Amino acid sequence: MSEKSAVKSEIMRILGKTDRFAYVHSFGCQLNVSDGEKIKGILAELGYDFTSDERKADIIILNTCAVRESAEERVFGIVGSMKKLKEEKPSLIIGLAGCMTAQKHIAEKIRKSYPQVDFVMGTSAINSLPSLLLECLRGRKFSCDIGEYDDFSENVAQIRESTFKASVPIMFGCNNFCTYCIVPYVRGRERSRSPHDIYSEVESLVKDGYKEIMLLGQNVNSYGKDLGGAVDFPELLRMLNKIDGDFIIRFMSSHPKDATHDLIDAIFECDKVAKHLHLPVQSGSNTVLERMNRRYTIEKYLETVDYIRRKSPDFSLTTDIIVGFPNETDEEFNATADLIKRVKYDNIYSFIYSRRTGTKASEMEDITPESTKSERMRRLLETQREISTENYKRFVGRKMRVLADGVSKKHGGFLTGKSDEFIIVEFEGESSLIGQFVDVEITDSMNWAVLGRLIK
Ligand code: 5AD
Ligand code: SF4
Repeated sequence: MSEKSAVKSEIMRILGKTDRFAYVHSFGCQLNVSDGEKIKGILAELGYDFTSDERKADIIILNTCAVRESAEERVFGIVGSMKKLKEEKPSLIIGLAGCMTAQKHIAEKIRKSYPQVDFVMGTSAINSLPSLLLECLRGRKFSCDIGEYDDFSENVAQIRESTFKASVPIMFGCNNFCTYCIVPYVRGRERSRSPHDIYSEVESLVKDGYKEIMLLGQNVNSYGKDLGGAVDFPELLRMLNKIDGDFIIRFMSSHPKDATHDLIDAIFECDKVAKHLHLPVQSGSNTVLERMNRRYTIEKYLETVDYIRRKSPDFSLTTDIIVGFPNETDEEFNATADLIKRVKYDNIYSFIYSRRTGTKASEMEDITPESTKSERMRRLLETQREISTENYKRFVGRKMRVLADGVSKKHGGFLTGKSDEFIIVEFEGESSLIGQFVDVEITDSMNWAVLGRLIK
């Protein structure tokens, strides 16, 4: 018997035939949600059912995010409140996984100050979950496995959150070391999965009826560089586009320094690839970009944008922006405000800079008051609302293909979905349409979505 099956049968023996429930919650980005789906897959193999009620759970796993301090504070708050649950049910097992736990100082803080936590598991240690669980069941007080950053958890059956939208990680880690970012420290260096494994996974998801395939990586367009360059990201898109079926391919995120003309050509060539690019710019100022170690200039970024716009003036662009990077001046911030007016993004995701221990930027002295940062954020969002309102008018009177996602929370009797361009579309329709592509004629636009009528 392999070590893996020995661990599994020992867990099954200890737990016997009793019903057992797991509560797994993932915070943060889609890559982390995808890891959470693998954690669930492993627990299901060990006989666990899932519950959304923490009080009913025999095991709780919080799959954490470290990208901003607020995410970490939230987890510490939740873990604190779980002390009571553990007192009421001493057999409850509490584990922490994900990016937070991969930081030594955090793992140490948990061990010292949160005795209710039984184990800590790093982002590359998902396969160790059964062994960690077994140690807990045998009475060990605290176990920790941070992993070696080389494990793809390739053969783990995922319990996917959706029956029609699937995330497919294509690479892990990041080599870029942007000075504000914790990711390279908690997810290690770039490792690409084999094109063959990715192809097989996508093919089988499409066969199972999945309509949206989201390719994930911290920097998808450097895919394959560590594989000797035989298949790069544009090539991977071209390969996946050949899979038969009615589905859309999306991907996230791309680094502007690697957004080549070949990547853009591939997006336009491949009919199944969404005509949308999320291209995080972070700042509109070259001096800030340099302090961030982003390795492109605004001129280079705009050259990429112009290449796209020349091919299709309509192409949908979104971005990430960090407001209040250490010592961002008014002039530097104004350059970002000017940039979003120039590019006219359909949407932006903006964040106030958060200091991350261990990163280069955390050593920079920062004299900008928090109130200035909040005010800049407010201005940026207001500007973007005006841009989105103006942009979305271009869809009125047009037909859009939409993947119906769920019931609208804003409009009674309406469904909500995403168009191929990644625009939120709300329309009247039966819930039986959820999970299907539908055609919608756009009748109205707002600053966050467009409204339309289902075309029968
Ligand atoms: N502070 C604020 N935002 C950050 N991001 C990454 N690190 C930080 C940080 N320290 C943002 C970037 C990135 C997105 C996923 O999160 O904009 O693109
Ligand atoms: Fe972080 Fe930069 Fe890597 Fe993105 S590219 S994960 S922002 S270091």
